[in-house]
Amino acid sequence: MRLFFLLLLLPHLALSFETPSIFPRAPTVPNASKFACKCVPGDQCWPSEKEWKAFNLTIGGRLRKAVPAAAVCYNEFEGKSYYDKAACDELIQNWTVQEAIIETTLNPIRPYYSNMTCWPTTNPNETCTIGYLSSFYIPTTTATAPTDLSLAINFARHKNIRFLVRNTGHDFMGRSVGYGSLAVNTHELKTVDFAKRYKGPGKYDGSAVTVGAGVQGAELYALAFKQEPKVVVVGGECPTVGYAGGYLQGGGHGPLATIYGMGADQVLSFDVVTATGDLVTANANSHSDLYWALKGGGPSTYAIAYRMTVKTPPEVPCAGMIININSTHTNDSALFWKAVEAFHGLSNLYVDNGMFV
Ligand SMILES: Cc1cc2nc3c(=O)[nH]c(=O)nc-3n(C[C@H](O)[C@H](O)[C@H](O)COP(=O)(O)OP(=O)(O)OC[C@H]3O[C@@H](n4cnc5c(N)ncnc54)[C@H](O)[C@@H]3O)c2cc1C
Ligand SMILES: *[C@@H]1O[C@H](CO)[C@@H](O)[C@H](O)[C@H]1NC(C)=O
Ligand SMILES: *[C@@H]1O[C@H](CO)[C@@H](O)[C@H](O)[C@H]1NC(C)=O
Ligand SMILES: *[C@@H]1O[C@H](CO)[C@@H](O)[C@H](O)[C@H]1NC(C)=O
Ligand SMILES: *[C@@H]1O[C@H](CO)[C@@H](O)[C@H](O)[C@H]1NC(C)=O
Ligand SMILES: *[C@@H]1O[C@H](CO)[C@@H](O)[C@H](O)[C@H]1NC(C)=O
Ligand SMILES: *[C@@H]1O[C@H](CO)[C@@H](O)[C@H](O)[C@H]1NC(C)=O
Ligand SMILES: *[C@@H]1O[C@H](CO)[C@@H](O)[C@H](O)[C@H]1NC(C)=O
Repeated sequence: MRLFFLLLLLPHLALSFETPSIFPRAPTVPNASKFACKCVPGDQCWPSEKEWKAFNLTIGGRLRKAVPAAAVCYNEFEGKSYYDKAACDELIQNWTVQEAIIETTLNPIRPYYSNMTCWPTTNPNETCTIGYLSSFYIPTTTATAPTDLSLAINFARHKNIRFLVRNTGHDFMGRSVGYGSLAVNTHELKTVDFAKRYKGPGKYDGSAVTVGAGVQGAELYALAFKQEPKVVVVGGECPTVGYAGGYLQGGGHGPLATIYGMGADQVLSFDVVTATGDLVTANANSHSDLYWALKGGGPSTYAIAYRMTVKTPPEVPCAGMIININSTHTNDSALFWKAVEAFHGLSNLYVDNGMFV
């Protein structure tokens, strides 16, 4: 199964099994072990309209064709007009706001990865193209996520097209964006269930919370604070980063990590869909190798998580301060760098005392 994942997500690796030519893109064997490149729009092997339609039916009509958010600023996108001056003006205002980019469903927070081919503009005569955004996406819901993910990953595998998960679009390396891909958007998976006592396998018997994959840091912090007694989660520093998406599977560091350990250390159980489309629970007793790999092995690598349960340690009193090193008292740059050096020299002391710097 692991080999299979490599082929799915790093298609160039498949070349080592193949002749150097990347053509044809069509699968040469039925089971993916010899695929060359993924099929992209325009290729003969790209699914036909009829196939997309049939797929849409199997997932209850939840498939969406990707239209860039800024298409509202243009006379035309792929032969159709989405022009809406008021919506465009609002988008221009919002385009620097992280929350607004997250809501676009497709755009990355680092714009570079979209190829910036459909930017908000006051001139509707300019050209808007899809760039590197997905071709189709599924805005999944709590009720349908397991089925949506399973059907989508199976469709992508059978049709040899790219597949990706897009949560908030924070990924620094653009992994939540992908040309010619079918994306599942997990942003609406917002369920949160606190439990005073975790009853699952393993040694832990403290309090816990089960969250959907779309829950963001600030949302969970606010809810944890409302519990009686108050609890915490080891979330990130950035309030809009997904708590349960890429963050946990990438390790996850944040203000409480020096006290309680990394974010990934807190996970007790993952409910996931594997690359074979199977629904699996990964914890201390069930698929424990997958459980171990998911706890920091990198998002989008071992499985797609739609729900997980994490520890909720007790609240801790916190205090914060800001050190300001500026030119009010001196412009001596050698002295400035001496101060920076002293600051870094104390790093171990900060960590040993539970500080986040
Ligand atoms: C402004 C900013 C501040 C940040 N602050 C912190 C911080 O304080 N601490 C920290 O540790 N990190 C921080 N990060 C990094 C952040 O945690 C990672 O980029 C993380 O991968 C984002 O996850 P996401 O789900 O929100 O974003 P996305 O970009 O939507 O997804 C990121 C990756 O995770 C995959 N993924 C998403 N959901 C799932 C899922 N359910 N199952 C499997 N794969 C999934 C995506 O396919 C993609 O590969 C920050 C990033 C930014 C841009
Ligand atoms: C692919 O098919 C071949 C031949 O039928 C088989 O030996 C191999 O195990 C299959 N690989 C996968 C990943 O299913
Ligand atoms: C999928 O079906 C729904 C419901 O009929 C429809 O609204 C939607 O536009 C379809 N998606 C695509 C990509 O055609
Ligand atoms: C713009 O931002 C406002 C306030 O954050 C929000 O209510 C609105 O939905 C956003 N509009 C768009 C088009 O993103
Ligand atoms: C867009 O094109 C139309 C028709 O050619 C022209 O009348 C109009 O001035 C153009 N608008 C801008 C902003 O260039
Ligand atoms: C990406 O941007 C470059 C530079 O503008 C352009 O030449 C190329 O056609 C774009 N590719 C896609 C797929 O949008
Ligand atoms: C410099 O730091 C002092 C506090 O030591 C603060 O009062 C002042 O506003 C700062 N000046 C600038 C330019 O940031
Ligand atoms: C340092 O330089 C700034 C900008 O030239 C000036 O405003 C400030 O007074 C200087 N500070 C000292 C302590 O001389």
